[in-house]
Amino acid sequence: MPIPKLTIMAAILLAGLSWTQLAAASCECGYLVFRGSQASVLFTNSIVTDFTDPNINDIGSDWWRTSNSISGDPGNVPPLLDLQYSVDNIYRDGEGLVVMTPAYSGKGPVGGGHPDLIDLPIHLLSELRTVLEDILYGSFRATMKTSSVQGVCQSLFFFESDSQEIDIELLTGAPNETGGTGSLHFTNQPDITPAPEAGFDPTADYHDYRIDWIPGKSQMWVDGVLRATLTQEVPNIPGKILFNSWSNGNPTWSQGPPKENALLRISSTTLYFNRTNAAENTAFSARCAKATGANKVCMV
Ligand SMILES: *[C@@H]1O[C@H](CO)[C@@H](O)[C@H](O)[C@H]1NC(C)=O
Ligand SMILES: *[C@@H]1O[C@H](CO)[C@@H](O)[C@H](O)[C@H]1NC(C)=O
Repeated sequence: MPIPKLTIMAAILLAGLSWTQLAAASCECGYLVFRGSQASVLFTNSIVTDFTDPNINDIGSDWWRTSNSISGDPGNVPPLLDLQYSVDNIYRDGEGLVVMTPAYSGKGPVGGGHPDLIDLPIHLLSELRTVLEDILYGSFRATMKTSSVQGVCQSLFFFESDSQEIDIELLTGAPNETGGTGSLHFTNQPDITPAPEAGFDPTADYHDYRIDWIPGKSQMWVDGVLRATLTQEVPNIPGKILFNSWSNGNPTWSQGPPKENALLRISSTTLYFNRTNAAENTAFSARCAKATGANKVCMV
């Protein structure tokens, strides 16, 4: 049955109206983040990236691919060889963004032994980071699906240094175990690492992962449910938000390295956060002081 013209007109009018309302909600005074039974928190900035949107160019302007290398230590036993982040392992396809650890070629020593350094010979890993590195507190969210290929660690995290870091890490080695090699880890680095039973298979579907970081507290949410509140070793200096996929063959952590390409898939990410850049904060205050709309504070 053909759709009556009047209905189409009404739909356009309706869409026009809601677009106008949306445009008015310009959030000049920031984003009030709903946190369940806890007090809402205000953040001044947002970055929203829908990696399924065909209109964004490559990975969008708010993100960079890490391309540095980390020098190993060939004298160590076992030898810690060079690590190279590869920009080629981050790309978009019809489903969104892929952050990949490629299948390990099998060359060179593998076997862990060092908790922090990667001991694979020039293994290509991948890491995505925000262009901004002055993020101080925020609510960082991503809809993502981890690989079913065993032997990688795939993460959403805040990082400034090894002791100023908050992670949601998913290990593909043992999807449903609890404990040291469990699939889901919530961490304030370096020591606070609860690993509750996931209760779902992170490799089967996309799930919503979220880190809320406020002074003295980091909280991890999965699919809208608060799963952890960590109050020790909470970072307190600015840094950046990252995603990565990596393996060092360590039998007590990542396991692997993977025999097939291991893909972390991210369909979208939304960050609400404060910055330390003084000029940006002055501009925010000026924008907010001038704002008159009913929606100058956006509830998110
Ligand atoms: C973020 O900045 C706003 C504006 O300065 C402030 O009101 C808010 O309390 C800050 N949020 C946190 C968690 O510090
Ligand atoms: C993990 O647990 C979920 C929920 O109980 C289940 O549906 C899934 O099949 C399990 N996955 C594996 C790999 O065992």
